[in-house]
Amino acid sequence: MNFQALSTSTSIGVIGAGAMGAGIAQIAAAAGHTVHILDAREGAAAQAIANIQAQFLKLVAKGKMTAEDANAAAQRLMPASLISELSSTGLVIEAIVENLDVKRELFSSLEAVCDASCIFATNTSSISITSIAASLKNPARLVGMHFFNPAPLMALVEIISGLATSKELAETLYATAKAWGKTPVYAKSTPGFIVNRVARPFYAEGLRLLNEGAADCATLDAIMRESGGFKMGPFELMDMIGHDVNFAVTQSVWRAFYNDQRFLPSLIQQEMVEAGHLGKKTKRGFYNYDDHATPSMPNTEGLAKRPLDITIFGNSRAASALAHRLHSASIVFVQGEASDDRIVQADGVVIYETDGRTATHRAQANGIHQLVLSDIALDYEKATRIAITVAHQANSQTKQIAIGLFQVAGYHVSSLNDVAGMAVMRTVSMLANEAADAVNQGVCDAASADTAMRLGVNYPRGPLAWADEIGILKVNQVLKHLNDFYGEDRYRVSPLIQQCIFAGTTIYA
Ligand code: NAI
Repeated sequence: MNFQALSTSTSIGVIGAGAMGAGIAQIAAAAGHTVHILDAREGAAAQAIANIQAQFLKLVAKGKMTAEDANAAAQRLMPASLISELSSTGLVIEAIVENLDVKRELFSSLEAVCDASCIFATNTSSISITSIAASLKNPARLVGMHFFNPAPLMALVEIISGLATSKELAETLYATAKAWGKTPVYAKSTPGFIVNRVARPFYAEGLRLLNEGAADCATLDAIMRESGGFKMGPFELMDMIGHDVNFAVTQSVWRAFYNDQRFLPSLIQQEMVEAGHLGKKTKRGFYNYDDHATPSMPNTEGLAKRPLDITIFGNSRAASALAHRLHSASIVFVQGEASDDRIVQADGVVIYETDGRTATHRAQANGIHQLVLSDIALDYEKATRIAITVAHQANSQTKQIAIGLFQVAGYHVSSLNDVAGMAVMRTVSMLANEAADAVNQGVCDAASADTAMRLGVNYPRGPLAWADEIGILKVNQVLKHLNDFYGEDRYRVSPLIQQCIFAGTTIYA
């Protein structure tokens, strides 16, 4: 049975009137609940209410809320100065400092004043729900309700159950989040829940590529945006989040998983934190945000001669889009019978899509010296940039021929030093691998993992759906090759992906 959302006659307590608490209070008041806001800092609750009221007025000005609704919602917000003022609430959402002992103490005080039927929710982003609940007389009443910043704008809410959490209460909060216009997903209380766990490789693989000298930050960011379809590349995103915050989350997930290499923090990021280069907020991160700083530009290859003799092989997504783009540019090419999985051959240069090996390794394995690899794109038809890497065995014209080919097809070309798995393929494979592990370990189901990543961090596609699109066999191959190349446990393939391959299915089939 599915439990109903809390009715709007249920009054709600929000504790912590900071960035998150204020956002949550705004959502609950707009949805029709009376909201009591409590903060340890004097005046903070009243200030938050004034700010929320200003937000309502902005929504009215934008035509997103009527003046009557805004006024009524504003009237439903009340400051509280004592915990006892929350005694009549049916749900209390905690959004105070991220500290286990402080949170435990707060919930114990609440338990002493609130009715036994009052649901306790915590907005913690990294502390175990099981652990916060453990100090309660009734740990079943505590549920994780993890909103994303800024809460009024971000649709995702992770509804997290600890070991003792009541299924009914989790379902009630799921329905309530939905009634508030959010998209909830269920998750089990494990380090990072869904989003903060599955997103780790997005930053980590970027940092590893930088560490290996694959390219500079601006080039890697441009590839992730313009080929990968991500709204932001990893470096600009880390600069925006703040390296102190991002590094702390990585460290907390890594420690919580007993130093699993999958989550290993980066020394480059540690240096940034130690130097106080925290990103936008300190005007210095991977990029320089000083008013007069020259913007960093990605490396884009200069114009190369267009190849004369082009053969496209097979009808993979990359090959079909290339054929289409060349056709639109009135470039003559031949459609060939594929003898292996090459995409295209141009003036004797053979181009494959990366399979997780370096171009140099592939050239040696295939016995082809004039060999180039291309990275994947989210949408090959629309992508504006493509990354390539060239085998060390290749002659000096090889790179120019590959650049010329992709340029006539309308791509900006960025060349990477010859790293395994390139940028988009390697990152997406690792995101899918992490999502697959979360599913395999019962943290969430596949659809929730994908929804969480699309809505919690705005990924252009859920990593598992993306893996199905790339082909689960290919993703498996990429991970295996990365594992062989680096010899690190980090790239071990998730049992879920392996089982899909043995069963001949896809993740979603
Ligand atoms: P914040 O620092 O903006 O606000 C915290 C507020 O809690 C402050 O106003 C502080 O005075 C108050 N406070 C601290 N201890 C208190 C206590 N014992 N009793 C009453 N009030 C107390 O913090 P923010 O960013 O709003 O985070 C709050 C919680 O939400 C944390 O658990 C955090 O991990 C989590 N979270 C934060 C996100 C973010 O992006 N900032 C995203 C999702 C969750």
